[in-house]
Amino acid sequence: MTGSTTPRGTLRTTAARDHLWGHFTRQSAWEDDVPIIVRGEGHHIWDDTGRRYFDALSGLFVVQVGHGRAELAERAREQAEQLAFFPLWSYAHPQAVDLAERLAAHAPGDLNRVFFTTGGGEAVETAWKLAKQYWKLVGKPGKHKVISRAVAYHGTPQGALSITGIPALKAPFEPLVPGAHKVPNTNIYRGPEHLRDDPKAFGRWAADRIEEQILFEGADTVAAVFLEPVQNSGGCFPPPPGYFERVREICDAHDVLLVSDEVICAFGRIGEIFACNDFGYVPDMITCAKGLTSGYSPIGATIVSDRLFEPFRTGSTTFYHGYTFGGHPVSAAVAMANLDIFEREHLTERVHTNAPIFRSTLEKLTDLPIVGDVRGEGYFYGIELVKDKVTRETFDDDESERLLRGFLSKALFDAGLYCRADDRGDPVIQLAPPLTTGPAEFDEIEQILRSVLTEAWARL
Ligand SMILES: Cc1ncc(COP(=O)(O)O)c(C=O)c1O
Repeated sequence: MTGSTTPRGTLRTTAARDHLWGHFTRQSAWEDDVPIIVRGEGHHIWDDTGRRYFDALSGLFVVQVGHGRAELAERAREQAEQLAFFPLWSYAHPQAVDLAERLAAHAPGDLNRVFFTTGGGEAVETAWKLAKQYWKLVGKPGKHKVISRAVAYHGTPQGALSITGIPALKAPFEPLVPGAHKVPNTNIYRGPEHLRDDPKAFGRWAADRIEEQILFEGADTVAAVFLEPVQNSGGCFPPPPGYFERVREICDAHDVLLVSDEVICAFGRIGEIFACNDFGYVPDMITCAKGLTSGYSPIGATIVSDRLFEPFRTGSTTFYHGYTFGGHPVSAAVAMANLDIFEREHLTERVHTNAPIFRSTLEKLTDLPIVGDVRGEGYFYGIELVKDKVTRETFDDDESERLLRGFLSKALFDAGLYCRADDRGDPVIQLAPPLTTGPAEFDEIEQILRSVLTEAWARL
């Protein structure tokens, strides 16, 4: 079946190859073919040849309520008609005010102040800049460095990219913003061998690495620690028991801000609207985006504690930072309607109920020789692929290239499953379906994975 054409009559795959620049995309792959996705409905998407796929990644950890929700489209249309655009520069509009109030109500502790952006990387960038200015304002101007974890992804602006812990993504753009230091992540599967059977001790060990780094750099130079509730990159590393409790203790002891980067984990992906509430910690800032509108319009936010806002509350002090489209009225209106759907359809409760079933369905795959580990929380799982289950030996670069890029990504897609085969850490397959899916869909995912992974093993 042939695909669609542009208004100028060019085959879209050809026009894409000739004119479109993909994000994080190896363009040479587009010489052969470019998948063009034209429609979504529920947890399905269709390409321009009419083929249907299961969207087991919610686009890119975004489409929480599923595709094709007419009421979100309608809300966007209404808002654009009423007030398509106004900035939050010295003025406010009802959509941003209402959404800020609603997000503050969901956020824990005294995180009551919302700074809107257009996406996640900008929210992370905002958090670092805010942390630096805050410490200057309260008389600790030396506190400017940040700590984050190995293999973690926090976005592409130069500050956020400094915080990102994936050397290969950073190297082409060095030198980046200085002062961003890394500590080990919470991958217990590859943690120190003597701690692998003791998650609590492992959690304590991993958290203590943050304190060690703060002391090494000097607490009077460290502004903030950036952590995801469940680390995405590397393949869904949940926090071990006690981890965040200890991190909070360390941050308090050394006057270091804790930023919960929930660009993926918020809005029900783990369970609660904010995932720090799933794990019982109160950060100083939350960064979020993606699922806030389920992708029906772009927006991000940095949610900040009263304490951090205090020096900006009175007088002439200003946070000289902003984005033309930050808190866009259409996006803010859509976010409100999206959160209405969460409430009406009890989506957070649904994730709490179904998450154990999702996990146990995926764990069935551990009978395959190539599946080393299944990990994650909520509706967010990673399946780590290994060459040897006993020794946990991973694939070398060549094998990984052949396995993930050469076979798995395409084979999964051809089998009707859109998900992610990722090698930013060890090779993993990641799953994050819309929150409207349930046990029948988990079975469907498992069956497709089983058949494709069995073939992958046979080809090795
Ligand atoms: C934890 C985390 N932070 C930040 C970002 C960057 O978000 P954006 O792509 O919206 O800039 C991402 C994107 O996936 C993310 O997962």
